[in-house]
Amino acid sequence: MSATESTGLVRQHLIDPEICIRCNTCEEMCPIDAITHDARNYVVKFDVCNWCNGCIAPCPTGAIDNFRNVERATPFSLDDQFGWDELPAASVPEKEQSSETPDDVVRITRAATSGQGGTARPPWSAAHPYLNLYALQKPAIATVAGNFRITDAGASSDIRHLVLDFGQQAFPVLEGQSIGILAPGTDSEGKPHHLRLYSIASPRDGERPGYNNLSLTVKRVTADHDGQPVKGVCSNYLCDLAKGDKVQVVGPYGNTFLMPNHPGSSLLMVCTGTGSAPMRAMTERRRRRIARNEGGELMLFFGARMPQELPYFGPLLKLPSELIDINFAFSRVPDEPKKYVQDRIRERGEAVARMLRDENTYVYICGLKGMETGVDEAFRDICREHGLSWSELLPTLREQGRYHVETY
Ligand code: FAD
Ligand code: A2P
Repeated sequence: MSATESTGLVRQHLIDPEICIRCNTCEEMCPIDAITHDARNYVVKFDVCNWCNGCIAPCPTGAIDNFRNVERATPFSLDDQFGWDELPAASVPEKEQSSETPDDVVRITRAATSGQGGTARPPWSAAHPYLNLYALQKPAIATVAGNFRITDAGASSDIRHLVLDFGQQAFPVLEGQSIGILAPGTDSEGKPHHLRLYSIASPRDGERPGYNNLSLTVKRVTADHDGQPVKGVCSNYLCDLAKGDKVQVVGPYGNTFLMPNHPGSSLLMVCTGTGSAPMRAMTERRRRRIARNEGGELMLFFGARMPQELPYFGPLLKLPSELIDINFAFSRVPDEPKKYVQDRIRERGEAVARMLRDENTYVYICGLKGMETGVDEAFRDICREHGLSWSELLPTLREQGRYHVETY
């Protein structure tokens, strides 16, 4: 390649179709509509993307965090990207790639080295997570050590507590991380099913302390978001597993939705349904260390249709009140007014404002995508009533790794 040609090289932002779980987050986040999709792939418009990196942090798998060096005049087209099953091999060695301005390089390097980095930050005292130890080509093989229904037999949703044992394979995780599950079989196009993510529900030292295992909280998907009957591929596969079955696992993923480790740090947790998984992991971590008297508060807002539908309802009620302040929001209890988590947050406005004011408080929101707006509005109202400005506080919380949202 001549020197003239090499000056025409630019980096093209691409999405890895093998890792992408098609969750639509990047397309929703992109402020300039540079991301689109068809029935098969999510892709980036070369002529629109300005490398603002707003999509990097929210991507749950890091699939968005990819690029290739291309000639400026001949980037990969949208049709090229729609047709991919995997990213093309890099054709230009790293050393030859620098036609960008220094600013570009700094931005790109930050994106490329930070996994889900971008603008989201973990708490300053979070432990360092391991990421992507097992890839699609070489997944870890876990053994099902248990599969228990944790919603009442009569409840409309079947939510399961699954314990996966990794035997002699190293699979270190932190509370707040997720793993990818590869369901066997192929999709309607004859391709292997894409991976699905599940939050880890157990603390870093295992579902059973000292064992090389972890737990998941999985809801069997039997209806799509419009309420039409459907058999969710991976959730049904997981919910039907029996003790002793083998499961292909990739990951772990997630380097920002992590808990602080410094004494005196407090957690303000808001979740619905299976969004309780990371909250369970973090709460259990704190419960196991309760004798250390490290200080800090735990406050939980947990929404479900009714008590019978609430995963871990029984165990939650047994937690000591000095460990955690629990606020349930039930939306479908007969003869009771419908309550959402944001309603409960408002009812506890004083305590919530006190926590938001404390620079040792870290906020976690997980579960239904729909609750994001309601929770944001509740925090805004509480701030207004208590002499705080949510518009100023929220960017500060994000900047300091103190505000974490994972919805799906
Ligand atoms: P699919 O076969 O992928 O989908 C079937 C149909 O159902 C599609 O039309 C789809 O749009 C719709 N659908 C998908 N999910 C839902 C849903 N939840 N409700 C209604 N309709 C749906 N799930 C858990 O159960 N527990 C977790 O801890 C968990 N953690 C997650 C963490 C992250 C970061 C993300 C991104 C997702 C998480 N999920 C979790 C969701 C999970 O990854 C799958 O999307 C979910 O299990 C559905 O997969 P499926 O293969 O069964 O359904
Ligand atoms: P709803 O009775 O309106 O469905 P699910 O069981 O579907 O996982 O939902 C968990 C809980 O979250 C339910 O109580 C559900 O209430 C509630 N929910 C639904 N939409 C929202 C929303 N926009 N904000 C907060 N909670 C919500």
